[in-house]
Amino acid sequence: MGVEIVVNDLSKSFGKQLIWGDVSLTIPAGEICVMLGPSGTGKSVFLKTLIGLLKPDKGSILIEGTDIASCSERDLYEIRKLFGVLFQDGAMFGSMNLYDNVAFPLREHTKKSESEVRAIVMEKMDLVGLLGAEDKLPGEISGGMRKRAGLARALVLDPEIVLFDEPDSGLDPVRTAFLNQLIIDLNAQIDATFLIVTHDVNTARTVPDNIGLLYHRHLAMFGPREQLLSSEEPVVRQFLNAQRVGPIGMSEEKDADELASEEGQELPPLPPIPLQQEPSNGIPRRSQRPPGEWCKEHGITPPPGSFETSNAGLAPGA
Ligand SMILES: Nc1ncnc2c1ncn2[C@@H]1O[C@H](COP(=O)(O)OP(=O)(O)O)[C@@H](O)[C@H]1O
Ligand SMILES: [Mg+2]
Repeated sequence: MGVEIVVNDLSKSFGKQLIWGDVSLTIPAGEICVMLGPSGTGKSVFLKTLIGLLKPDKGSILIEGTDIASCSERDLYEIRKLFGVLFQDGAMFGSMNLYDNVAFPLREHTKKSESEVRAIVMEKMDLVGLLGAEDKLPGEISGGMRKRAGLARALVLDPEIVLFDEPDSGLDPVRTAFLNQLIIDLNAQIDATFLIVTHDVNTARTVPDNIGLLYHRHLAMFGPREQLLSSEEPVVRQFLNAQRVGPIGMSEEKDADELASEEGQELPPLPPIPLQQEPSNGIPRRSQRPPGEWCKEHGITPPPGSFETSNAGLAPGA
């Protein structure tokens, strides 16, 4: 079923450096959310805060009635069992084969017998398409396979919430497409709450139910995919359409002069909203809403060509 995460007024600094402040959002149970943002905006810090690896300066994170920003270590230990995390590099032990890597959380956190461990490991390896690669060392396989193995390991304790830190980083577009399909199929199958951190605009446009955008030390927007893809808000529009014109500059925000020089420059029209990627068996996920439903409910006319099957999803300029 998955578990809801309610984040309220969350802020995080390191020393005097504010990473982000006043972040409030609800990650709905069982849905897929993508958190987007330029590099260095604190996406990984956000994930680490959600699992209690980092303490926020203020605010709360409610999961099943427990505030993990302020709960005891003991409660935190219990809550953490709800999470499966796929770290950016897969975070595999280099000297252990994939089987032992995937079995690790089971041997560490449960009292299961080796034959039970074996059944679970093989089931998860199968789920991520790695059956037969159990004896390989992480160094012997491709980056895409390492991510799949990391995913199998994130799933062994049957998590209610799965966090992905840039699952698409370092993968070519074809591998990314396969991994995104795997993520969607998994969500359909295990029904957990998924939060994917990425800076890949195409993933954000086609995969999730909801999108958030972290920018310039705050959460610029969070809402249903169709809301952000039809938004005229300058930062959201620029980022989701990978455009140069807009408030986001090469390294930070643009200064007043840079922005003034863009004045009068015509923005390209919003591209069509692509159809959301479906599970490979063609049966919609439980949390998936019919195309155009959000726009219709909110009286928004989506850009021309939206939700047509011919628009497979690539953003122009992406
Ligand atoms: N443990 C830490 N101590 C101090 N600064 C940190 C720590 N972790 C991350 N940061 C800083 O927080 C900022 C955001 O980092 P990060 O979350 O990794 O960005 P992203 O994942 O969006 O690329 C960076 O400026 C980084 O240097
Ligand atoms: Mg990161």
